[in-house]
Amino acid sequence: MKNEIAGVILAGGLGRRLDPLTRVANKHLLPVYHQPMIYYPLEKMIRAGLNEILIVCGESDQNDFEKLLRNERRFHNAGIEFTTQIGEDGIAAALALAEDFATDRRICVVLGDNLFEDDLDLELENYKSQTDGARILLKEVPDPERFGVPVFDGEKLIGIEEKPSNPKSPYAVVGIYFYDNRVFDIIRTLKPSARGEYEITDVSNAYLASGDLTYGHLNGWWSDCGTFESLFEASRLVREQKTRNMEIIRD
Ligand code: DAU
Repeated sequence: MKNEIAGVILAGGLGRRLDPLTRVANKHLLPVYHQPMIYYPLEKMIRAGLNEILIVCGESDQNDFEKLLRNERRFHNAGIEFTTQIGEDGIAAALALAEDFATDRRICVVLGDNLFEDDLDLELENYKSQTDGARILLKEVPDPERFGVPVFDGEKLIGIEEKPSNPKSPYAVVGIYFYDNRVFDIIRTLKPSARGEYEITDVSNAYLASGDLTYGHLNGWWSDCGTFESLFEASRLVREQKTRNMEIIRD
């Protein structure tokens, strides 16, 4: 039971930075090149053997998600469940809704607007080989101030700062997190941040404080889709990869 890992995709929130695109559609149903955004994290999880997945979506979005995914054969073998987050009280608050689903399993959490090239297999194995605690992944980016940013003392990770105006490293903490079952107790201790949200960065910092946080690096491309620019960039990256894959098949 200890090595069983359940998948959680967080697809709640109001996507305000993409208004008016998100006025009537959940952000994670918007197109990224040729597919709805939610397909990408789902595909990554299923390909890595995570077949029990909870999608946390926003109020009144569940029917749209179900309608979309029901008609997609490749998702039929996965056990996909849904739960609903009311309002937008933060990523950690959305994750708290996964407690009953997780039962005593560890979890792999992916933010529904994060797209990445690497498969999840390797990092899942890395996490399975640690007995408990948490693991985060980093990617070097040109604009770390938009993200959670790790702070290092040499090689040693000593903190994570959420959207710092003066980032202390060139890395973003990407939206892929591995947590053990303690995560739900940790979330219960959190206070909302200055922007009124329960922050996932505070969760990872709590693991770090107890010496239970490891980190790795993503090798391939990564993008979130939270802004017009990053949504556009994600589409560009997917298109580029698709073209590359077709060239390999042709050669
Ligand atoms: O993309 C990685 C970054 O994601 C991390 O580096 C940051 O530490 C983390 O806080 C987060 O930053 P953002 O401010 O970009 O997150 P955003 O509010 O755009 O939310 C990302 C996803 O999380 C969103 O697509 C759905 C989910 N979410 C978010 C909120 C605020 C929820 O499910 N519920 C929520 O209330």
